[in-house]
Order: sequence, then C-alpha cells, then structure tokens
Amino acid sequence: MEKTWWKEAVVYQIYPRSFQDSNGDGVGDIPGIIQRLPHLKELGVDVIWLSPVYQSPNDDNGYDISDYQAIQPEYGTMADAEALFAKAHELGLKVMMDLVVNHTSDEHRWFEESRKSKDNPYRDYYIWKDPVDGKEPNNWASDFGGPAWEYDETTGQYYLHIFSKKQPDLNWDNPKVRQEIYDMMNFWLAKGVDGFRMDVINLISKDPAFPDDPDVDYENHSSSMEMVANGPNVHQYLKEMHDQVLSQADIITVGETPGVSTDDAILYTGFDAGELQMVFQFEHAVIDDSKEGLGKWSNERFDLVELKRILSKWQVELHNKAWNSLYWNNHDRPRVVSRFGNDSPEYRELSAKMLATTMHFMQGTPYIFQGEEIAMTNVAFENIEAYRDIDTLNAYRDLVEEQKRLTPETMMEFVHHSSRDNARTPMQWDAAEQAGFTTGEPWLGLNPNYSEINVAAAKENPASIFYYYQQINQLRKNHPIIVYGDYELLNAEDSEVFAYVRHYEDEELVIINNFTDQTIKREYDVPADAKVLIANYSDDLGTTLRPYESKVYHIKKEG
Ligand code: NOJ
Repeated sequence: MEKTWWKEAVVYQIYPRSFQDSNGDGVGDIPGIIQRLPHLKELGVDVIWLSPVYQSPNDDNGYDISDYQAIQPEYGTMADAEALFAKAHELGLKVMMDLVVNHTSDEHRWFEESRKSKDNPYRDYYIWKDPVDGKEPNNWASDFGGPAWEYDETTGQYYLHIFSKKQPDLNWDNPKVRQEIYDMMNFWLAKGVDGFRMDVINLISKDPAFPDDPDVDYENHSSSMEMVANGPNVHQYLKEMHDQVLSQADIITVGETPGVSTDDAILYTGFDAGELQMVFQFEHAVIDDSKEGLGKWSNERFDLVELKRILSKWQVELHNKAWNSLYWNNHDRPRVVSRFGNDSPEYRELSAKMLATTMHFMQGTPYIFQGEEIAMTNVAFENIEAYRDIDTLNAYRDLVEEQKRLTPETMMEFVHHSSRDNARTPMQWDAAEQAGFTTGEPWLGLNPNYSEINVAAAKENPASIFYYYQQINQLRKNHPIIVYGDYELLNAEDSEVFAYVRHYEDEELVIINNFTDQTIKREYDVPADAKVLIANYSDDLGTTLRPYESKVYHIKKEG
C-alpha cells in the first residue's frame, strides 16, 4: 500500500462557533483559534478541519452559506483566515476547510437571482419543479422535518431543500454550477488551504425521475436523504472535481456520505478511483437510532457485538482497496464518552481512554472532535429553550407540539441523549467563568461540569486523558503498524470486550478493550515477553481486565 502523509495524519475538528471567543461577543472566532493553536500542537495532531467559517445567515450554523468567498463577520475577516493558515503552517499544522456544496443559503446571491424569474440566468442553479396536483412535486421529507420542497409564490414553482428551507439544493447537473464550485475551491487552494471535508457530498446528484420515497413518514420525522444518496452522476462529478481541482495539489479530502456501504465507499475512495481519499460512513454513527422509527430521537444504548461487526466490516472490506476515516465524534453526534463509554466521575476518563484506543488503533485516519481530548460529556439542559440546533428544535416542534407523538419529558430525555448541541457546547478551557471560552454571554450554554472538566485541569494531571491522546498521536508517528497494519477481529460474539489484532511485517499489536464497568477475565494469545505499548491502568494484570481497561500489546516476531 502506498504510504502517504494523510494516511499517517491525525485530524482535529474545530467547530469555530464554540472553540474560542476572542472579542467577548459570546461566539468563537478565528483569532480565538489562532490563540489556541499551541494547544493543538501540544496534542500532536497534524491537520485541523474547520467547520464552516464562510458568510452565513446561520440557519444551520454556517452549513447554509451565502458567500463561499467571504468570512462570516462574527468569525473575523479574510485577513484573519489568512493569518490562521500562515500561523498553522508555521507550526507544521495543515488546514482543511469544510466545503458545503450540496446546497447554499437561500440568501446566497445565486438563489436570490434564481428565485426572481423562470428565465433568470441563475434559475437552473437550483432544482425547481412545478406543483403536482397543487402540491409538492413528490413526497420527500427534509432531513430537518417537514417536506423537502418549498413553494415560491413569485414563479409558482417549488424548490428542493434536503435540509432546511433556507438551504436550497444546488443543481449539479448544470455545468455552470460545477464550474463555479471548482473555481471557488481553487480560490481556497490558492490561499494555502490543505484540503476539504465535503459536506453530504454523495447527495449532489439527484435522480431525474424524482421518484416518491416509499418509506416516508412525516409523523415520525423521517428523512428522505437516502433517496438522493449516491445518485446517477455523482461519480462523474467527483472525477471531474478531482481532475479540475483535487489532483492539482497534495491535499487531504474526506467526503461526508450518509448511507454509503463499503462497496459505495470503494467507488468513492478506491486507491485508483480518482475521486476522494476517505469518506465518513454512518453505520456506527446511527447504531443506537430509535427502534420506533424516530431516527436519532431515542435513548437506546448501542450493542457492542453490532458495533464490532460494523467497524470490523469497514476495516476488512476496505483493506488494500480504499482508506477509512476513524471517528466517534463530530459536531452532529453526541459526546463519545456519554454515548459509548461511561461519563460518571469514576469512569469518565478511564472509559474515554478505552474508546480512544479502540478507535485510533484501527486502520484509517483518526479524527478528534474538539473537547474529545478532555473527555467532554453530553449536556442536559432542562428546557428546550436552552437549545439552539435547528434539527433539535424542529424535532421537538414536530414530535411534541404538533404530532404529540412524545411527551415533553420523553423528548427531553432523547434530546439529552442525541441532540447535536451535546457536541456544540463551548470548549472548556479552564475553571474560570465561562470556562475561558468567552468573557461575554456564550451563544449556547456551557456544560456546567466545566469547573471539573477542562483543559487546564487535564494538563495539570500527567495521567489525564489529554496526555493519553498525546501519547497515542506520538505512537502513531513511531509505529507504522498503527497506520498500515492489517486488522483482524477477535471473538466477534463477545459482548463485553472489543479486541483485535493488527499485523505488519514482523510485528503484531493486540488491542484489548473492556467495555464494561466490571472486572472480567479473558485469555488472548499474547506471548509473555510482549510489551505494553499503551494502557489506561498503570499495571498489567494479564488475563484480568478491570472496568474499562484498555491495553495494547506490541509483539515483535523473531527471525
Ligand atoms: C451535514 C453537516 O455535518 C450538518 O451539520 C449539516 O446540518 C448538514 N450536513 C447540512 O449541511
């Protein structure tokens, strides 16, 4: 397998709104990110991925862009962005921009033109359809609730929006749209950015027949996103993007691709595909979705055997063909320690370290989401009014207020479990007021546990999760087996331990993770002279695994 820097890299995702405010307006900004670059350097990551910092009316916190070539004023200026790229590069960090091109904001100049008249030159930049029997052109549901079509009185047609009605979908079948996007990407590359994370990039090509969604269920707040996933021309467009933009520079690319199978992923990211380097698959990220058909709105706990099956399938099926992204967290998912570990004071750090080991020792490029390195937890605001996420607020409105499908109490439990705002509460830097995030009023409340869980406290404790992540990142640099070794799951049916082996040349790693709060016994084939490369307890009891114990044995075969 070819060795490349982006396979060896560790990516750190910054959600700029919640990372560091520098001017007291309660909103994180680019100068704030610059201030905190030394933290990232110390952690030992290689690339930072910035969630969108472009001009946006903020209907979906920047995933609704009104100008791709301007910076959102609350985040700073273009000069600030350029300073960030320069400072990051000085420190040896690369910068990956979020690229949101399935849709724009309805306040983007293209859409403002497009909606003016049927013969406007920008009309075909978006997807417009006549009403059918006086109603929506088909039954598709938006991912944020309600129909995926919005009627526009001026021209008597509907436009498609897979996300909010302020996020109209672009028409990628129009070559002018594609050219505009490639030019914009080249504009950012010329500014020195080192890669792109592409928002829902597998939704860009729509089936021209626009068939009804057989599974649509408005009462259950279902989404028709899968109806537009992996559409007829998506590979043609990505190959074209690769030719015109991506292949021109030595950059890192990852596509967010809901609903992809491993076969789809190989089409997008196969080593010879000429499209993307990695995708974010969703299978493990939706593992605890509601069994009642309510999507993420549930408080179900995942099943470890199922988690192992999914992650192992991705490891094995992509091996030697394509490259995995490795992630637990991002700005759309609850906090990993609360979801897959145990966020009680007793086990928070131990279980978070165990989860870090489980993920980072697989084959692929690991992604750390801000706050994961200090094991930040989910938040439980009492009232829905404290939440800011459009997806959460719409779901509450639909499921509680309109459909009366759930009681407010049940829905709040689900919100505490699954809301995207769990990931978006401000970064907890220290125990001072507002956690060192801002001197003003934060745009979204802080998690009240910041007085105990914060970066400053983690850095004071040599045994903290922060240093554990640092150690993992360092080991990755020194042991090619972590990056390039193959993968073999051990004991697929064991519902308490996630153990696997990596092989590379004459080396082997055995990775053992106890997912329970119990002391249990397990035997693995580990020679007596194997070295412990990293562990979350300071001593090794062999076959005895303490609560959330995690350890990696390194074995060098003789001759
Ligand atoms: C996926 C992004 O990660 C999410 O935050 C956003 O709401 C949707 N795409 C729409 O852009």
